[in-house]
Amino acid sequence: MQIIKQYIEENKQRLLDELFDLLRFPSVSADPKYKEAVLNTADYTAEKLRAAGADNVEVCQTAGYPIVYGEKIIDSTKPTVLVYGHYDVQPPDPLELWETPPFEPTVRDGKIYARGACDDKGQFYMHVKAFELMMQTNTLPCNIKFMIEGEEEVGSNNLGIFVKENKERLKADVVLISDTSMISMETPSLETGLRGLSYLEVEVFGPNRDLHSGVYGGAVANPATILAKMIASLHDENNHIAIPGFYDDVVELTDEERKALNSAPYNEEEYKKDLDIAEVWGEAGYSTMERTGTRPTLEVNGIWGGYIGEGAKTVLPSKANAKISMRLVPNQTSEKITQLFTEHFIRIAPPYVKVKVTPHHGGEPVVTPTDSVAYQAAQKAITEAFGVEPIPTRGGGSIPIVALFEAELGIKTVLMGFGLDSDALHSPNEKYDIFNYYKGIETIPLFYKHYAELSK
Ligand code: BES
Ligand code: MN
Ligand code: MN
Repeated sequence: MQIIKQYIEENKQRLLDELFDLLRFPSVSADPKYKEAVLNTADYTAEKLRAAGADNVEVCQTAGYPIVYGEKIIDSTKPTVLVYGHYDVQPPDPLELWETPPFEPTVRDGKIYARGACDDKGQFYMHVKAFELMMQTNTLPCNIKFMIEGEEEVGSNNLGIFVKENKERLKADVVLISDTSMISMETPSLETGLRGLSYLEVEVFGPNRDLHSGVYGGAVANPATILAKMIASLHDENNHIAIPGFYDDVVELTDEERKALNSAPYNEEEYKKDLDIAEVWGEAGYSTMERTGTRPTLEVNGIWGGYIGEGAKTVLPSKANAKISMRLVPNQTSEKITQLFTEHFIRIAPPYVKVKVTPHHGGEPVVTPTDSVAYQAAQKAITEAFGVEPIPTRGGGSIPIVALFEAELGIKTVLMGFGLDSDALHSPNEKYDIFNYYKGIETIPLFYKHYAELSK
């Protein structure tokens, strides 16, 4: 522990400077205009892995953005940890709401503000630096493989192919990921599940062209109104999702599991205050923790149609659109839910419009084990670094590739995230506490130490 703290102290500024360099790349995977920057981020990541001491570092080409691979095999009889992370980020929009530019990392009040500060550059880079620390101090007790991808925020389609084609190279005993949140620094926690995802786009078509809303309005169905009604009908009065069959495969938690989840500290007043909302909302019969961690949901991510420019235009739009996502829990599958949604949405369309449903991407839910040696190692590492034992929680987000690691490689995952829900992931003014960054670099080597010891 002393060696770790000393190394971090002696290299404090450099550890931060390098993260800042990484954050300066606008590596937005969703928008092709950032292509050059995304590719440069992969090269930077590879260079830093190499500099930290990784062997066989490769920027592996795919049909999309490359996957950065690197490894350090110290002894084939020792356990192997596969570290996964992503160097791509979400689009920074809406830009005008950022206090400082998203790709010019700025420190305010001990926090780094930048797109990707927490999700996931700040978090995966802790692993690169913790690896460097173990190499420099001769304390690496396990084999390590790094796989850092550039398409997580757009569904990891090419990583799926890469995993299937590189089973031998990716052989490991556990996958370690820092891309999730903790309750707080005072109450550290480990996420033990991720939700799955079905993401699709719907289009509602009305007349064959935009119409004068005075000449035709009242006589021709407005697709925006129809879309709004169709979307509103997707939840019933108890906020259950009203798609037939939607809940058929949902595994209900036992009373004991529900009790354990609800015993985690959660202050509804603070929650509401932070978001400036008067009341929370959700499925009747479930707490906020359960609604986000253990229940499936349906959200409109975007909705548009007609005139949305400056001023007013009197128009009856010919078309309206929405992007809709559903978060899934065990044992729902994205394929079945996507199909149920599509059939339902087409069925409820009234005769005066046509609808089209286009699936985007999906991912399966996972629950990670809490009785494994790797989970215990994470528990011990956090307890040692934070002075408090971590609480298991269920995360509401999705990392679709985790279910695939299990299905294709047969490897379970430990989600050792150091973010906070208040870090504004995907929002303007995303941040990551400098304290969390250093704390992560401190905790990760302890994970390796305990994992090696417990694996003996
Ligand atoms: N790191 C997040 C997922 C996450 C955040 C899990 C917080 C738990 C707590 C990841 O980068 C992400 O945003 N995933 C997307 C899914 C992807 C297919 C676009 C998500 O959850 O929306
Ligand atoms: Mn992420
Ligand atoms: Mn994300």
